[in-house]
Amino acid sequence: MSARETPPSEAELAAAMPALLARAYAPYSKFTVAAVVIDEDGRAHLGVNVENAAYPSGACAEQTAIGAMVTAGGRRIARVLLAAGSNAVVQPCGACRQRIAEFADETCEIVTVQDGRPTRRTPFWSLLPESFGPGDLG
Ligand code: THU
Repeated sequence: MSARETPPSEAELAAAMPALLARAYAPYSKFTVAAVVIDEDGRAHLGVNVENAAYPSGACAEQTAIGAMVTAGGRRIARVLLAAGSNAVVQPCGACRQRIAEFADETCEIVTVQDGRPTRRTPFWSLLPESFGPGDLG
C-alpha cells in the first residue's frame, strides 16, 4: 500500500485477519496468531507467528508485524489488532508487551479480533505499567 492510499478501516482489517491467520507458520504448537500493527499514519503492518524447529528461535506475530512496521518506516504504534486461530481472546505475551512498549503511543490499544470482528479493546499501558523503556537509558 502506498502512503497516498486511504488506510483500511479497523473493520476491514479485522475482516482480513482469518485469511492472515492461515499464513501463520505454527507446525509445532499448532497455535496460529496474527497481528496487525497500525502506525502513526494509520498504515497497517501485518505479522504472523513464525515458529522454528529450534523452538526458542520462533517469532511471535506481534514481533513480525513490528518488524514490518519499522522496515516500512513507521515508528509509533497506535493500535495492535490480535487474533488467534483458536478464536480465543489473546493478549500479547510478556516479551511482546515489551516489544510493543518500545513504540507504543500513550493511547495505544490492543484490539482483540474474533471471527473477523473486533471484540475487545484494552489500553496497552494497562498491560505493562511501570515498564522499562527508551527513556530509562537517558
Ligand atoms: N504467540 C504469538 O505469536 N503472540 C503472543 O503474544 C503469544 C504467543 C505464538 C508463539 C507461538 O508460536 C505460539 O503462539 C504458541 O505459544
